[in-house]
Amino acid sequence: MCGIIGYIGKQQASPIVIEGLRRLEYRGYDSAGVAVLHENAIHTRKRKGKIDEGLAILAKEDPIVGCVGMGHTRWATHGLPTDENSHPHLDQSGNIAIVHNGVIENYDSLRKRFKKKGHDFKSETDTEVLAHLIGDYYAELSPEEKKEDATTHPLAQAVKSALKEVVGTYGIVVICKDFPDVMVGARRGSPLIVGIGNEENFLASDANAIVAYTKRVIYLNDYDVITLWQDNFKMETVTEGDSSYKISKIEYEAESAEKGDYDHFMLKEIFEQAQTVKNAIRGRLDYEESTAKFGGLNMTIAELRAVDHIVITACGTSWHAALVGEYLIEEMAHIPVEIEYASEFRYRNAPIEKNTLCLVITQSGETADTLAGLRESKRRGHKVLSICNVVGSTIAREADGGIYLHAGPEIGVASTKAFVSQVTVLTMFALLMGRIRMLSNRRGAQILKALEEVPAQIQKILEQNDKIKEIALKYSQCEDFFFLGRQYNFPVALEGALKLKEISYIHAEGYPAAEMKHGPIAMIDEKTPTVILLPTDGLYEKTYSNLEEIKARKGPTIAIVTEDNTHIKDKVDDVIYIPKTWECMMPLLEVIPLQLLSYHIAVARGCDVDKPRNLAKSVTVE
Ligand code: AGP
Repeated sequence: MCGIIGYIGKQQASPIVIEGLRRLEYRGYDSAGVAVLHENAIHTRKRKGKIDEGLAILAKEDPIVGCVGMGHTRWATHGLPTDENSHPHLDQSGNIAIVHNGVIENYDSLRKRFKKKGHDFKSETDTEVLAHLIGDYYAELSPEEKKEDATTHPLAQAVKSALKEVVGTYGIVVICKDFPDVMVGARRGSPLIVGIGNEENFLASDANAIVAYTKRVIYLNDYDVITLWQDNFKMETVTEGDSSYKISKIEYEAESAEKGDYDHFMLKEIFEQAQTVKNAIRGRLDYEESTAKFGGLNMTIAELRAVDHIVITACGTSWHAALVGEYLIEEMAHIPVEIEYASEFRYRNAPIEKNTLCLVITQSGETADTLAGLRESKRRGHKVLSICNVVGSTIAREADGGIYLHAGPEIGVASTKAFVSQVTVLTMFALLMGRIRMLSNRRGAQILKALEEVPAQIQKILEQNDKIKEIALKYSQCEDFFFLGRQYNFPVALEGALKLKEISYIHAEGYPAAEMKHGPIAMIDEKTPTVILLPTDGLYEKTYSNLEEIKARKGPTIAIVTEDNTHIKDKVDDVIYIPKTWECMMPLLEVIPLQLLSYHIAVARGCDVDKPRNLAKSVTVE
């Protein structure tokens, strides 16, 4: 996905756009560019690389003047990250500039059409083709349609006509040098929000880019087309005239989307996790009934009790949280749970029973595959609940109901606090579903008490950061890792492997501990460390024997154990102690040392922890 921002108002656009792009860089950072409209001319600058490696320097040394501007930070989908393929892109006339997040699927046929008309293209991108399409319709406007007091503004008219031909997804900002006081935005499938300021207005991919200027926002819906002036706006749709809209309020402060004193967003977000759990449980624990309660499920207790099957779709780290959810819900509520990779579920013809409840889990609320999984579930007539972090995101709005994480913005590309928050919410959801079935009041009370202790337990683990860093440095040059765990600990092993992979580029695999015997153990040698999740639980002896099998092949071992374990120290190469809690709560604690291990290894290897190569924070393309 990419980050886009537009500004129209009284201030100079360039500094606002550059700062907005910095706040959107986690969405993609292959290249960046800006365009500013001034005195009927469009001035563009675009560079391969991160913003501070080129664009920001230019903006400082040779600022572009103008109060209408837009910018783009790119995660490449079509064409290599080069200066030419960076956005903004211009139409054939050079009069219209656009920035775009999404994929124009029919760009090839459109490109051929324009090539035949003699158009020349400067890039390999689908976005440039869209710019030419808009420019083509603009050139063909009748004199009537070109009048600025027409019902639909001429630029918006050209955009609407062009978008009727588009197959694919878009979030776009468009400016035209004939109209120095107008900016047009439109979306389908890629997020775009409008910031309503005081004699200034904004367009952005998400709230982080504009929360410092305004908290009044409109979340655009698919097919919305908005025309913005400095002090006014007109909402339409691609096919209709005036369209409805709702002004919402951003819930968080600008500061919570900044690094503060931390070296990286990821480290800040790891250290926020005690508070993250508090935010997730706040107002949701019902001590009277020893259960949990949620305000936004939009389902009655009778409807929830009628659920006899649950399907959860997600991607990446959210999929790992879903896997913990499977163990939680099956244990507490005895409801069969199916976990599906959203990218597979959307095309698979999975037989789903009538009384199935579908959950989608997502930090961003914009992941294309997860959104498709939601729509597939709804298409089949099932209720869909979302567990999501971003208020007003597409998935949150299209679900029939849901639970917000309230974790605050997660900027680091590697998801950390969102995972802990998702597992906390799933624990409460499992408790709720269990208590309206056969889960006892006493057991419910134990779970509530254990949940309340988690923030302090997390804080205690975070205090071991220096010790964990020391261990991490010992293994930072290894090229292969294994992560092992059984039952509730297995999804955490997968999550630990993903964390290490995505920020340090080390090959890492997570497995159910016993599964190693069925092939993967062939990989073990003295250069291949294994991180083994070994809490004192009902399967301790079984998992301990897997540890012995690793050691018998000279594999280095790092054990994550509970504090009551007094004999493991001399049996492994390194050990990290964590507080003891119920087996079903262990994922919330075990994941913390794995996050810190990965973080310190990645830093030691000189990797860009917050913006790892090839990645983006939310994958809004297939
Ligand atoms: C996790 O560290 C990754 N950034 C990635 O796997 C992420 O979890 C996945 O893309 C899903 O994103 P979502 O939770 O926003 O849907």
